[in-house]
Amino acid sequence: MMMKFSFAIFLFLSVILADEIKKLPGLNFKVYSRHFSGYLNVSETHRLHYWFVESQNTPSVDPLVFWFEGGPGCSSIIGLSDNNGPFLFANPDVNETFRRNEHTWNRMANIVYLSSPAGTGFSYSTDGNITTNDELTADENYEAVKLFLKEFPSYRNHELFLTGESYAGIYIPMLATRIIDGQKDYPINLKGIAIGNGAVNLKIQPRTSLFYSYHHGLVSERVYKRLVNGCCKGNIETCEIDLRNSYCQEMKEMGKPMVLFDYDISQKCYNRKNEEDMFPDCNNYQKLKKIAEYYLDDNVREALFIPSEAPQFHYCNMAMIDHGIYKKEKDDMSEYFLKIVAAGVKTLLFYGDQDKVCDFLMGQQFVAKLNITKISAKEPWFVNKIAAGYKTVYSNLTFITVRGAGHSAAKTRPLEMYQVIQEFFKASRINASSSYVFLISIIFNIIFHLF
Ligand SMILES: *[C@@H]1O[C@H](CO)[C@@H](O)[C@H](O)[C@H]1NC(C)=O
Ligand SMILES: *[C@@H]1O[C@H](CO)[C@@H](O)[C@H](O)[C@H]1NC(C)=O
Ligand SMILES: *[C@@H]1O[C@H](CO)[C@@H](O)[C@H](O)[C@H]1NC(C)=O
Ligand SMILES: *[C@@H]1O[C@H](CO)[C@@H](O)[C@H](O)[C@H]1NC(C)=O
Ligand SMILES: *[C@@H]1O[C@H](CO)[C@@H](O)[C@H](O)[C@H]1NC(C)=O
Ligand SMILES: *[C@@H]1O[C@H](CO)[C@@H](O)[C@H](O)[C@H]1NC(C)=O
Repeated sequence: MMMKFSFAIFLFLSVILADEIKKLPGLNFKVYSRHFSGYLNVSETHRLHYWFVESQNTPSVDPLVFWFEGGPGCSSIIGLSDNNGPFLFANPDVNETFRRNEHTWNRMANIVYLSSPAGTGFSYSTDGNITTNDELTADENYEAVKLFLKEFPSYRNHELFLTGESYAGIYIPMLATRIIDGQKDYPINLKGIAIGNGAVNLKIQPRTSLFYSYHHGLVSERVYKRLVNGCCKGNIETCEIDLRNSYCQEMKEMGKPMVLFDYDISQKCYNRKNEEDMFPDCNNYQKLKKIAEYYLDDNVREALFIPSEAPQFHYCNMAMIDHGIYKKEKDDMSEYFLKIVAAGVKTLLFYGDQDKVCDFLMGQQFVAKLNITKISAKEPWFVNKIAAGYKTVYSNLTFITVRGAGHSAAKTRPLEMYQVIQEFFKASRINASSSYVFLISIIFNIIFHLF
């Protein structure tokens, strides 16, 4: 019996350690926690890649957090190495691959960077078929969470948070409601969801983006008037811009020539040379190239145990959208958010206010229309006594803007976002169902109001 037991432990350890990353090319400093890279077989053919970074604090008690990059088609590895992870790509003019991130979120949490759906990053389909949609992606993400907890059983009861950005504004609410609906069969300690510049309502996004662009000096009077009167029949407030409508064609032209980085209009950009380039030549362009090239390297693939049948790495797999491989089905997440909020799952929506693609107005208007009880009106929040943005607090849901930040808020405002996420994890921990409901709700409000 004893022997069997230790054999089981040995097996268990060897399974886990098999996925542990020992060395990463170009990484010349200590990362202070264990890293794992592996796959979750979410269907007969779909294999989702995860990169799991344990907490640098106390892995055994810190929350378990999943991060989803958007797109659809962008790899969550980008979230790790260009947004909120422990080591970020150094600027191309620096003679180092990486730099340490003092404000990495794994100083307070265990984070699983899950690349979803199959076809993004190192995630793939064994038969090459990566055709998918919102519902199938949500099913497979749910499967991935359960498989992960099976693979790492010591995390089974940890507080769990779902985080991500952009199109994860669709992935996360759909996954969260599957977890909520499945609680009876498979309990998961889901405490909260936090989404950055989420694509939560694609019906209103074209008009909020137009409104945003006009008011940030990016659209001429003539073009704006034509769009408002032609495309929107005079009512920009309620207009649902249909890009197939010939009066709305100018929407597509609005952003050209692309001398702006649409995802962060405050960036420095140069004249665009190649119309085909995904990104204009802005001050982050060389870095994006550097990242994409790094993960093409065979030594890097080997260090991450990527099998040869997995495809070449792309920062974002543009074919997912351009060729309709990913069929978008949902354009309004209202019913999902209402369900999540009603289930007592704490929800945070944060928007970098320099992003014109998933602009904060989409988030602000979306949240206002949910008609959730408001606890405090829009007011500034501060970090080191400096206004870092605005926040509006509703029952179980907080909406904030992050001043001066682009599409990936933690990238441009690492300190501010670190504090926001830290407060969010803490506030979500307060259990309001005890007999001290009143006292605790006061504490809860104080903590939640800190940001
Ligand atoms: C996952 O799929 C791969 C490729 O088909 C296979 O080699 C591996 O054994 C599968 N893993 C599990 C746990 O089923
Ligand atoms: C840059 O790094 C390479 C390889 O580590 C080294 O040989 C070279 O001397 C470094 N150059 C500078 C200017 O530090
Ligand atoms: C590809 O996968 C999708 C989603 O699972 C499925 O609906 C479709 O039938 C598959 N296509 C082929 C050619 O197998
Ligand atoms: C917030 O969550 C609590 C349970 O924690 C629930 O009683 C309350 O109704 C929720 N608020 C809303 C607006 O659904
Ligand atoms: C919120 O209230 C407005 C006005 O009564 C209504 O038009 C809208 O549908 C409501 N939103 C939701 C999500 O129920
Ligand atoms: C609060 O804590 C009690 C006792 O620990 C537990 O039974 C209950 O489910 C918790 N409620 C929530 C909303 O987490």
